[in-house]
Amino acid sequence: MSQVFDVAVIGAGPGGYIAAIRAAQLGFKTACIDAGLNKAGDAPALGGTCLNVGCIPSKALLQSSEHFHAAQHDFAEHGITVAGMQFDAAKMIARKDAIVTKLTGGIKFLFQKNKVASLHGRGAFKGFSDGLYQIEIDNKGEKTEISAKNVIVATGSVPRPLPLVEIDNVNVLDNEGALNLTEVPQKLGVIGSGVIGLEMGSVWKRVGAEVTVLEAMPVFLAAADQQIAKEAYKIFTKEQGLAIELGVKLKEINKLSDGVEVKYDNEKGEAVSAKFDKLIVAIGRVPNTDGLNTEAVGLEKDERGFIKVDGECRSNLPNVWAIGDVVRGPMLAHKASEEGVAVAERIAGQKPHVDLDAVPFVIYTDPEIAWAGKTEEQLKAEGIAYKKGMSGFAANGRALGLGKAQGTVKILADAQTDRILGVHMIGPMVSELVSEAVLSLEFKASSEDIARIVHAHPTLSEVLHEAALAADKRALHG
Ligand code: FAD
Ligand code: NAI
Repeated sequence: MSQVFDVAVIGAGPGGYIAAIRAAQLGFKTACIDAGLNKAGDAPALGGTCLNVGCIPSKALLQSSEHFHAAQHDFAEHGITVAGMQFDAAKMIARKDAIVTKLTGGIKFLFQKNKVASLHGRGAFKGFSDGLYQIEIDNKGEKTEISAKNVIVATGSVPRPLPLVEIDNVNVLDNEGALNLTEVPQKLGVIGSGVIGLEMGSVWKRVGAEVTVLEAMPVFLAAADQQIAKEAYKIFTKEQGLAIELGVKLKEINKLSDGVEVKYDNEKGEAVSAKFDKLIVAIGRVPNTDGLNTEAVGLEKDERGFIKVDGECRSNLPNVWAIGDVVRGPMLAHKASEEGVAVAERIAGQKPHVDLDAVPFVIYTDPEIAWAGKTEEQLKAEGIAYKKGMSGFAANGRALGLGKAQGTVKILADAQTDRILGVHMIGPMVSELVSEAVLSLEFKASSEDIARIVHAHPTLSEVLHEAALAADKRALHG
């Protein structure tokens, strides 16, 4: 007789592990099945893409490389001279690995604390009988089975493959390889100027690589507000020296003994051949249902492979839910986690709500890019009349003190009601400012509300305050 659970979660990424903890807190007997392994591949590691090969390690490398770059280029104006400075990529990677180990171990502890049964192995649907789903767990060929009344699928996503070349994580890298280079490549190519391309391109550029980013789309950061995207493009290319080519058409990628050759047509249609020491492929991610055996129970997927769910993460099957990267919506850790909490609470009969229109987006470049709500392009396309208020970091006292007085905040508000519809930012630590934007969207605030709230001085948030004042044409420092 297999062990019976109230809730079985498949996947322990930020969607699954949070769902499991919340379900256990609500009194359900909960299991969380996860196949993830540590970097050495010799022990289980909870936390999914986010903790192991995504959000957390990338932010660790961004910080290390930012320090190196600042010491080389920015310290002098503070009167600090650093002589004989060197960069040790292997040490940077070891620091990153230590952070990952600490956090993945933290989830193990949280599972124990909340009495979540943590089961290692690949979970697959086996069948349904007597109101229970049977799930088989394969741990290196050793098979066990559990049954559960409710199942939450949180199996995440994997990198989108590029048909022209196979990832080997030697010279052709996906996110995992890009996070583990122990030497700085002299010439680094990146396919895709999306979030990973820009973040990882920035890391290796700052520590000395010559970086070329090849992007298929003719516009830069198509999902972002284009005024902010244009400002970002100028800073990354003209000031920071990232070579970003838009509108390229890849023709051929060849692995060489000492690197990678990429043949492509540039925006003007000219044939180009470039050679790189390493090539990162970051052209998006696809939902992961590999080995889940959805057919055994008839769990439906859409034409792109996402598990089909409604606005509340219900699948086509009773008591089977799906959350995070494996379902529609932005592929972001915080979106996965909030869906996890909401599903656990729905199983408990509560009525939580996750508003996908108020999910914040952040790109951790320097300056950072962050936004929530609609872009100007979306408002125009939807025929919504809006007003806008803008302010810059150039004259902000805190930003000047930080030596990061660059960037813009833009607030878009309804022309009639003044309700905030979107906030778009490029600037220092705007990843932290975006929460005020989310709050204003969720609470249906007006730009006047933000304008009348007292913002501490001197802080970066004063730029958001000033943008709100500007929306009403009464900026004080503009
Ligand atoms: P995942 O984190 O992918 O977790 C899924 C888990 O399920 C994995 O552990 C997997 O091993 C396991 N699994 C899969 N199938 C099975 C099975 N059949 N049985 C058992 N286990 C299974 N997002 C942000 O919000 N902020 C960031 O800064 C950010 N940075 C990123 C940087 C990089 C380089 C990458 C690649 C992604 C980044 N993301 C970021 C995206 C973020 O990592 C994902 O949105 C998030 O991890 C999705 O969470 P999830 O729980 O849906 O899935
Ligand atoms: P992405 O969707 O952000 O960007 C992929 C880019 O590749 C796009 O600009 C696309 O036009 C381009 N592209 C696609 N096919 C191409 C081709 N054949 N040739 C050249 N360019 C091509 O995907 P990315 O960067 O791989 O990241 C995956 C996801 O991970 C993100 O969408 C995001 O959800 C998540 N992520 C989030 C981060 C954050 O929140 N800070 C950081 C990193 C990843």
